[in-house]
Amino acid sequence: MTTPLETEMPLEQFVRVRDFIYSKLGLFFEDAKVYFIQKRVERRLEALGLERVEDYMFHLRFCDPEGQEMQALANLITTNETYMFREYEQLEAFSNHCLPEVLEAKQKRKLTQLRVWSAGCSSGEEPYTLAIILREVLDNSRDWDLQIVATDIDEEVLRMAEKALYGDRSVKPVPPEYVERHLVAERKGHRIHPDTKALVKLQHLNLHDRAAMRSMRNFDFIFCRNVLIYFDDASRKSVVDHFYNALNPGGYIFLGHSESIGRISSAFDLVRAGDFLVYKKGKP
Ligand SMILES: C[S@@+](CC[C@H](N)C(=O)[O-])C[C@H]1O[C@@H](n2cnc3c(N)ncnc32)[C@H](O)[C@@H]1O
Repeated sequence: MTTPLETEMPLEQFVRVRDFIYSKLGLFFEDAKVYFIQKRVERRLEALGLERVEDYMFHLRFCDPEGQEMQALANLITTNETYMFREYEQLEAFSNHCLPEVLEAKQKRKLTQLRVWSAGCSSGEEPYTLAIILREVLDNSRDWDLQIVATDIDEEVLRMAEKALYGDRSVKPVPPEYVERHLVAERKGHRIHPDTKALVKLQHLNLHDRAAMRSMRNFDFIFCRNVLIYFDDASRKSVVDHFYNALNPGGYIFLGHSESIGRISSAFDLVRAGDFLVYKKGKP
C-alpha cells in the first residue's frame, strides 16, 4: 500500500521532479506524465517514510551521495518492454549483411575479436538474441573471441537478465530450430543455454553518465533499440556522440524502428543492408 498524496501533484512540483530526473538520467517526461510520476514518487515516499514531495526532493539532492535513492526511482520509472528476436527483419539485416562484412574485414586483418554492445538491454532478451545469432552465423565460433556487453540503468532488469529464465511470451518469436540448441526447458520457463549465456557480460551503466560512457570503447556493433525514444534531442545527441566514439571504424549502430539519428548527428553514414537502412561509422 502506498500513501497517496492528497491531490494531484501541482505542475510546478512535477516540473522540479521531472527536471531533476532529466538531469540525472536523460529521460524526459512530458507534462501529461504527471500521474505516472506522482504514483512512483508516492511509492518512494512510502518506502522512505516521508510525506511531502519537497522532502523527497531534498532527500534526492542532499541525502543521497551514493545515488541509491536515484537508483530506486530509476528502477520504477524506466520502461522495460522487450522480447527475443524483436524487430526480426532488422536482425536479418545484421546477420545476413553487416555481420559477414565485418567478420570478413577482420579475417583479412587476422583479427579474432568481435565486440557487440546491447545498450539498454532490459531483462536480457536482446543480448541473448544476439548471442544466439553469433553462435549460429559463426560455425567456427570457438575460434573467435566474442563479447556481448549488455548494459542497463535498471538494476532489477539486470537481475532478471542474470537469471536468463524466460516465459513463453518472451521466447515465442525464437525460430524453432534455435530453441533446441539455445534454450533449456525448465519447470518455470526457458533458460538460456550456458554456452550462449557465456557470451554476454552484464553491466550496470547509465547512458547519461559521461565518465562511464567514455570507458566504453572498441565495439563493432551497438544495438540501442527502443531506448532513445525516452530521451529528448539534447540527451539523444550526447548519447549518440558517445556511441560514435565507442564504435570501431566500419562498425554499425542499430536503433529501434521508430528512432532516427539523422536529425541529431551527421557523423554516421546511412547505408543499405538488404532491405534495411542502417547507420555505419565510415572508415577514417
Ligand atoms: C524498452 S527497453 C528496450 C529493451 C531492448 N533494447 C529492446 O529493444 O527490446 C528500454 C531500456 O532502456 C533502459 N534505459 C532507460 N534509460 C536509460 C539510461 N539513462 N541508461 C541506461 N539504460 C536506460 C531501461 O531501463 C530499459 O530497460
